[in-house]
Amino acid sequence: MKKIINTTALLLVTFVSFGVAASSSVHLDSANTDITDKKSLQNGAKLFMNYCSGCHSLGLMRYNRFVEDLEIPEKDVAENLMFSGEKTGDLIKSTISEKGASKWFGATPPDLSLVSRYKGTDWIYTFLRGFYKDESRPYGVNNHIFDSVSMPDILWQLKENKSEQEFNGEVRDIVNFLDYVGEPAKLVRSAIGTKVIGFLLVLLILAYLLKKEYWKDVKYGKWRVKG
Ligand code: HEC
Repeated sequence: MKKIINTTALLLVTFVSFGVAASSSVHLDSANTDITDKKSLQNGAKLFMNYCSGCHSLGLMRYNRFVEDLEIPEKDVAENLMFSGEKTGDLIKSTISEKGASKWFGATPPDLSLVSRYKGTDWIYTFLRGFYKDESRPYGVNNHIFDSVSMPDILWQLKENKSEQEFNGEVRDIVNFLDYVGEPAKLVRSAIGTKVIGFLLVLLILAYLLKKEYWKDVKYGKWRVKG
């Protein structure tokens, strides 16, 4: 008994300390993204390719997935989203060279294929909206949740002439797109999941009716051995 209590206490302490370690003290705004929203994903892809792909690659993503998953016509992908003569089957590389980037920014812009998985969408959403003026930094900006960041405030131009709500919407689309890139199969997976559950429900009804049919006779005692 004592051993059980000890083990339970130990487990509890472990879980509680994990919880404390996982919840950081910074406040993150909720990104509230929805990867089934195709319009948002299409806009996010466009914004990413225009504002981010100069420095960041998406090394696990190919252009032709935009056609299949995001329903962007192949012609539009080629004309509006590809800038340096790639083929649609190519992986999405950044235009900047790694050496140049680390020389200019003091840090290599990381590949963003999986950033939504290891940072979380709320983090990226808060980060992209978290730049503030700080003249002591090389680019004159710093970030509320990424102190001494080497990335410039890329979206300042997008922010101009936009209400806060409109700007947040644009950032949300970029984050939504990065969430999709983190697991492109999620779209397919959830669609299949719904169908499978539907099928199982129908099967449940059929199985129940069949069971009723089989047991009908048993209930009325036709098959019971008499006496
Ligand atoms: C001019 C180059 C440049 C552009 C354009 C740029 N970034 Fe960055 N980004 C960087 C650099 C450099 C870092 C690394 C910062 C550091 O380590 O201090 C970075 C870091 C990040 C990080 C943090 C990743 C991590 O693992 O910590 C995210 C997220 C990010 N960028 C998203 C974006 C998005 C989204 C866009 C487009 C809206 C964008 N960036 C455009 C240069 C750029």
